[in-house]
Amino acid sequence: MSINVALDGPSGAGKSTIAKMAAARLGFVYVDTGAMYRTIAYYVIGKGISPDDSEAVKAALPEINIELKNEGTQQVFLNGENVSDLIRTPEISMGASKVSAIPEVRAFLLGLQKDIAAKNDIIMDGRDIGTVVLPDAQVKIFLTASAEERANRRFKELQEKGDPSTYEEVLADINQRDYNDTHRDIAPLKQAEDAVLVDSSALTLEETAEEIVKVITEKTGKKKERRVRELMPVRPITKTHRLTHIKMFLYTFLRFIVLGLYHLFYDISFEGTENVPKDGGNVFASNHRSYQDPVFIALHTRVPISYMAKEELFKHNIFFTGLIKFFGAFPVSRGKGDTAVIDTSIEKLEKGRNLVIFPEGTRSKDGKVGPGKTGVALVAAVAQTKIVPVGIVFEGKLAFRKKVTVRYGKPLTPAEIGVKGTDPRSLKKLKLRIMEDITGLVEKDVNEV
Ligand code: DC
Repeated sequence: MSINVALDGPSGAGKSTIAKMAAARLGFVYVDTGAMYRTIAYYVIGKGISPDDSEAVKAALPEINIELKNEGTQQVFLNGENVSDLIRTPEISMGASKVSAIPEVRAFLLGLQKDIAAKNDIIMDGRDIGTVVLPDAQVKIFLTASAEERANRRFKELQEKGDPSTYEEVLADINQRDYNDTHRDIAPLKQAEDAVLVDSSALTLEETAEEIVKVITEKTGKKKERRVRELMPVRPITKTHRLTHIKMFLYTFLRFIVLGLYHLFYDISFEGTENVPKDGGNVFASNHRSYQDPVFIALHTRVPISYMAKEELFKHNIFFTGLIKFFGAFPVSRGKGDTAVIDTSIEKLEKGRNLVIFPEGTRSKDGKVGPGKTGVALVAAVAQTKIVPVGIVFEGKLAFRKKVTVRYGKPLTPAEIGVKGTDPRSLKKLKLRIMEDITGLVEKDVNEV
């Protein structure tokens, strides 16, 4: 029989982040039921139907097909379209809260939720999982935090996205949703009698996840799946932070200008641009030939990149420093601990940027791909995100009108090759695969001759 963990609690208590972290550590599937309600809200709002109009919402249900797929992280599909990012706006949050009060909507999703739980070891998060959806779940947890603390966390997230909402508005929104969720007639938010209460107000994400894993292991006797030493906890990124339209517009505009200039200056060509994901939050792993490499790579990524650069590079001339900063360089000082660099990298991915990493760590003079370091695998495994291999090819040194080829390879996710944790063996496997892919791209010419 599968193990079912019901995780309920109010909006903004950090359920989804915590559930993802705990699921990754225990080898469970994470199921986000809020995303299902959001998807229904997204569909009806798109059709011009008010989420308050229960008759019209009910009538639309037969047109809706929702699927959850695990593609490294959970992705939600509405009638075949990936809507995972589109359902994370304040308007959809409020719409979801409203449609979730309609009994037919709840009945519509109940079958799907029970079905997933019957087939997998899961952590399912929502409002009524312990009380209605999985009343027989082996573990029930009610995760909460004070409304002020939840508003504080949400406010910071929105600010980073450039959202103009004030703290007072965010708090009012949380209070309103709490009220809606606890006062509706059907399946209101409440703690199941046999649920363990966890209050995260004064805890960090890490401490909360530890606490939840502890409750689950105590109740089920299920030990962490991987006994081997994990270098860092897996924390799949959510990719929900989007860059503002203005930033994207400016970036794209300038990128095309720089692209034009590079075409004038070098005899540059790009291959495999169809492999470049349209969204951000991906790792680009490339061989390292010159200081121009991050720019070469960024010229065909639609979302800005970030990359680690030695502190010394920021002391070059103003033009060079300006250029590398524009293309997202962040300084890494030699003295800084590895974990701090990984944390900064994950933050950049969370913010929706693409992260460029040169696994060799240093530039290759003869164009041969040297051995890779493990950092690239660690970042990708912690974030459980896509890795796009890149090969940069030119002979000798860069010079005016030099022939340069930039090849983007097929993206790979750690999960796809069975890498779900950060134990040394998994990291080595992932690193070797990444280096193999990069080498394949760099040596393509040689092999084709
Ligand atoms: O967890 P969330 O913020 O993504 O949820 C969106 C809305 O859906 C929330 O206002 C309450 C509702 N919901 C629900 O009623 N029952 C669930 N099991 C999950 C979410």
